[in-house]
Amino acid sequence: MKHLLKLNDLSREEILSVLNLADQLKFERKNGVAIDYLKGKKLGMIFQKSSTRTRVSFEVGMYELGGYALFLSNRDLQIGRGEPVEDTARVLSRYLDGIMIRTFEQKEVEDLAKYGTIPVINGLTDYCHPCQVLADLMTIRERKGSFKGLKLCFIGDGNNMANSLMVGACKTGMSFSIACPEGYEPDKELMELAKKNIEFTLCRNAEEAAKNADIVYTDVWASMGQEEEKAKREKAFKGFQVNEKVMKAANKGAMVLHCLPAHRGEEITADVLEAHADEIFDEAENRLHAQKAVMCKLMKD
Ligand code: CP
Ligand code: NVA
Repeated sequence: MKHLLKLNDLSREEILSVLNLADQLKFERKNGVAIDYLKGKKLGMIFQKSSTRTRVSFEVGMYELGGYALFLSNRDLQIGRGEPVEDTARVLSRYLDGIMIRTFEQKEVEDLAKYGTIPVINGLTDYCHPCQVLADLMTIRERKGSFKGLKLCFIGDGNNMANSLMVGACKTGMSFSIACPEGYEPDKELMELAKKNIEFTLCRNAEEAAKNADIVYTDVWASMGQEEEKAKREKAFKGFQVNEKVMKAANKGAMVLHCLPAHRGEEITADVLEAHADEIFDEAENRLHAQKAVMCKLMKD
């Protein structure tokens, strides 16, 4: 594993190995064991979009591993004023041991890796969100014991989260269903991959998708960068909400996950979110452990 640009680049074994290390790091942290696996290492964190979880979990994670994390906002970097990514990549490679980047285009992340000489971690693009899904898989395995025989259902926009979750399901052998309005489907190639590898259903009805689901997942109707489409999307996504009715269609004891931030009353009701708050905030916590594992895999000598 040289980079984490998208989940599909990782083999099933590599994913499981990251999850195993994440479990170990979580255990060590809970038991007050602090090991400086990344002593003296420096991570640059480029943010072209807002963030709470990604920023804080990477920064704290690096601190806990004995390294140092620099927050680099596009408002301050020359990249925000048009300096080419190929130059930024070569310059940052001279100072740092790794780069985490949150941006719009997947190509920018791939280019950073192509022109730089240090590991690059994708902290979200319009195409995918691999760090989030590693934490999601960790949370699912933690609560369900294994991935065997599980069905993961996604309700809402076929966005970066849906894309990465679909790949996560393919890699771990879970079934995957999605309910989304017409015109809001996930990436075509990734749907083909899912059709080939796992039981995959695409439907237009939330309850139908949730039938027999063990995990019900949702995300915002309008992602970062789509703020202007908010009103149009509110109309299109009406009915694609995780609510009590949808949860009744799912298996008994089904988990609810949400990458957060959540919009109560839109993609999820306040009641369902609060009833599953333990799972959802464990999921948020697991971002820390999963990303520490990723950084160790990529940056440890
Ligand atoms: N889930 C997630 O990536 O959250 P942030 O946007 O707060 O980083
Ligand atoms: N789909 C959302 C995920 C946020 C973590 C977005 O891209 O804004």
